[in-house]
Amino acid sequence: MALFKELRFIFKNVVKNQKRHLKSVLGNHLAFAGATHKSRTVSESITYINNVFEDYLKYGNLSKESIFDKTILEIGPGDNFGVALKFLALGAKKVYLLDKFYSERDDIQQITIYNNLRASLNAADQKRFDNAISLINSSLKINPDKLEYIYGFGIEEGQKVFKNNPVDLIVSRAVMQEISNTKKAFKVMNAILKNGGMMLHKIDLRDYGMFTKANNHQLGNLMYPSWIYKLMTNHSGLPNRNRISHYKILLESLHFKSTFYITHIFGSNENEFIPHKNNIVYRQDYDDNHLNYIEQVRSKLANEFKKLPALDLLISGVFVVATKK
Ligand SMILES: C[S@@+](CC[C@H](N)C(=O)[O-])C[C@H]1O[C@@H](n2cnc3c(N)ncnc32)[C@H](O)[C@@H]1O
Repeated sequence: MALFKELRFIFKNVVKNQKRHLKSVLGNHLAFAGATHKSRTVSESITYINNVFEDYLKYGNLSKESIFDKTILEIGPGDNFGVALKFLALGAKKVYLLDKFYSERDDIQQITIYNNLRASLNAADQKRFDNAISLINSSLKINPDKLEYIYGFGIEEGQKVFKNNPVDLIVSRAVMQEISNTKKAFKVMNAILKNGGMMLHKIDLRDYGMFTKANNHQLGNLMYPSWIYKLMTNHSGLPNRNRISHYKILLESLHFKSTFYITHIFGSNENEFIPHKNNIVYRQDYDDNHLNYIEQVRSKLANEFKKLPALDLLISGVFVVATKK
């Protein structure tokens, strides 16, 4: 019975994933993925946008002045352009938004968010904000010289757009974990980033509830063989299962200077580390309960995860700061 349930679960996800692929091939990019703000109040949305933006400045060690005249790419903005508008309000030259899907959105709600965001700015920033978008008569008009929204393909295919438009800064929040071919994606990001340019990615290493919603172990998604897992997920914006070490190796191979901040670990208390931590310390940040929790499933994990160090398996969220040398 358990085996039957498992096979049915796999089959359902494989069909869903292939359907999503077919939709994209046929030019239908509308998806629920990235509809972050749909279920939020306006004030929750503003708080979210401000937090995302402040994290980029804080962990990237960027002053507000340093944003002036910069060309920025935000990958996977989802349903809202608020973070991009905050960069533009500080005088960024241009912000590109690239998303694989067109996230479902409520246009009226979005305009209300933008109006509220605008109201929170000082006069000089408002002037730059207004040069990027206009919100007259409840309709949204984007100035393509300042803000360019591109959707329908992933960053893996981004070189065709950015070949002649190198950028100073690449940012993303909760996106990298959805990219199936991260090797290709990071190669493209490396190619479109100017020398000395920076990338800032906050990456969620959990399973999006795919397995944990049925009270499974938090590493339950690491138990499936790669080829099956890929068939179930690779076109659907579901997690790629890469651990922190994967991203470290990838950035090292591209000769980036990088710092990894730990934002979360698995276990009963999933609170975010604020500020995020360079290192986690035994008996301070984690203990034997955490280690036992990992070890109890190690033998059941797919081969590529079985031999990873415990901390690699324990870390469930990272913030990556990487500079192109
Ligand atoms: C979890 S949502 C996060 C949205 C937004 N950054 C936020 O913090 O609310 C992930 C976003 O990444 C986008 N995405 C997934 N794979 C992508 C890819 N390969 N290239 C670009 N965007 C991608 C999705 O369409 C979605 O908008």
